[in-house]
Amino acid sequence: MSQLFIAHGHRDVDPLLQVHEAMRRAAIPTWYTPAGSKEIDPDSVNDAIDSAFGMVVLVSASSIRSKAVQAQLDRAIARGLKLFPIRADNARLSKQFKTALADQLTDSLGDDGALERLVEAVKERYERRCPVISVMNLKGGVGKTTVSSQVFGTWQAALGGRTLLIDLDPQYNLTQTFFDMEHADASSARDRSVISLFERSRLHAYDATSPSENWSTISTELFEPVDRETISHNLLTGENAPGGRLDLISGQFEISKYAFAPSPESLAIVGANFRRMIDYYRSEYDLIVFDTNPNATFLTRCALEAADRVLTPMHPDVYSLRGVRLLNQVMQEQISDEKRPDLSVLFNTVGRSEQSNFEADARNGTFDDQAGFALSETLLTNALPRSGHLVVRSPEEGEAPWKQLVVHKGRGGGLKKIRESLTGIATELKLLTDA
Ligand SMILES: Nc1ncnc2c1ncn2[C@@H]1O[C@H](COP(=O)(O)OP(=O)(O)OP(=O)(O)O)[C@@H](O)[C@H]1O
Ligand SMILES: [Mg+2]
Repeated sequence: MSQLFIAHGHRDVDPLLQVHEAMRRAAIPTWYTPAGSKEIDPDSVNDAIDSAFGMVVLVSASSIRSKAVQAQLDRAIARGLKLFPIRADNARLSKQFKTALADQLTDSLGDDGALERLVEAVKERYERRCPVISVMNLKGGVGKTTVSSQVFGTWQAALGGRTLLIDLDPQYNLTQTFFDMEHADASSARDRSVISLFERSRLHAYDATSPSENWSTISTELFEPVDRETISHNLLTGENAPGGRLDLISGQFEISKYAFAPSPESLAIVGANFRRMIDYYRSEYDLIVFDTNPNATFLTRCALEAADRVLTPMHPDVYSLRGVRLLNQVMQEQISDEKRPDLSVLFNTVGRSEQSNFEADARNGTFDDQAGFALSETLLTNALPRSGHLVVRSPEEGEAPWKQLVVHKGRGGGLKKIRESLTGIATELKLLTDA
C-alpha cells in the first residue's frame, strides 16, 4: 500500500501534526520520522520513500538546514516522486530547495485555505490511476519488445516516475532481454510471474497448486493482489544502479494455456482477475506498460481492455500496415466503446530511402484507405531509426538487468542520436497520456 511521505525538520512539530491530522481526516495514509527522534534506521526511511506516492515537504528554517531532509528530497527526486512543498515559516530557501521546489511553492500553512488546498492536491494524486500503455501490433517482429524495453526504460530514466513493465507475451522475450532463461524460468517456477495476475497461485497461498502445472483446469478461486515487491523484479539493482523504480513482472510460456481454456465462463473470470490486478497496481506506479504477443488471442483482449493507449510499432512496409489495419479492426469490433484504448502508431527502423518515402506517404494520408482508418492522424511525429544499439543481445551472466538499456550505456558511436530519438518518443507519448 502506498503512502504519503512527510519530510520535516526536527523543529516542525506543530506543522507536522497539522498536516498529519488533515491527511488522516481525508483517509490518506502518511509516513514520517517521529518528531524529536534522531536514531532512525536510514533503510526504513528509504523504503518509505520508495513506496510513497508523493512527498509533502514542510519548508522551514529547520528542514532547509536538515541533512536528512536534503537526502530525502534527493531520493524523492531521483525516484520521480510527486512533491507537495508548503511553507511552515518564512526561512530563505537554500539552493537545493530553490531548484527543486520554488516553482511549486505557492502556499504557507498559515494562509487561508492552504491546508485544504494541500489535502485536495494530495488526494487527487492518491486516487490517481496511472496510465497503462499496451505495445501491440498483430504482426510479428516489428519491434514491440524493443520498444517496450528501450522507449519505456528511457521514459523512466529521462522523465521520471515509477514504471512497471509486464511481459504478456508467451514467448517472454522482454523478460529474456533483462534476465537469462534460467533466472526467468526459476522465477515462473515459483509463480512469481505474469500467471499470478490471472489465477490464484502459490504467490497467494503456499498450499495453492501452481496454475502453470495443469493446462486443462483454470482456477476460478478469488485472490487478493500481493505487494508489488512480491510479484515484480526490480530492474534497477546492482552496483551503481541508477535511481528510480523500473520493475518487471516476468513472462512465461504457460499463459498460452488460456487459448485452450475449457469454458468461456472460466476465461471471463480469469480476464476479470487480470483487470482487477492491473487496477490495483495502477495506484503503485506512474506508468504500466504491456509487451504483447503478435497474434489476436485472449491475451490481446485482456491487454486491450486494461490499457488506455495502444502503441503500435510498425516497419515502413505493407506487411506492417496490414498488421495495424487488423489491430484497429479488432479494437473497433471486439472492444466496447468505454474500454477501447486510444491508438498511437510509431515508425520503427526507418532509414533507407524507400522506407523514408513510405513514411512520408503515410504521414500525407496516402495509406489511410488501406489502413481502414486515419492512420496519418495516429502517427507519432518521432520515429525510431534502425540502429545496431537496438539489436537484441542476451544479458551476460551476472550482469545487472538495467545494463541492457541504451539510456544507461556509457558513451559510444551513435548512442547520443539513438538516445535523443528514444527520449523524443517518450516525451511525445507522455504529453499524449497526460492530456
Ligand atoms: N530500431 C531497430 N534497430 C535495429 N534493430 C531493431 C530495431 N527494432 C527492432 N530491432 C530488432 O528486430 C528484431 C525484432 O524486434 P522485436 O523482438 O522487438 O520485435 P517484436 O515485435 O517484439 O517481435 P515478436 O512479434 O516476435 O514479439 C530484434 O532482433 C530486434 O533487436
Ligand atoms: Mg516481442
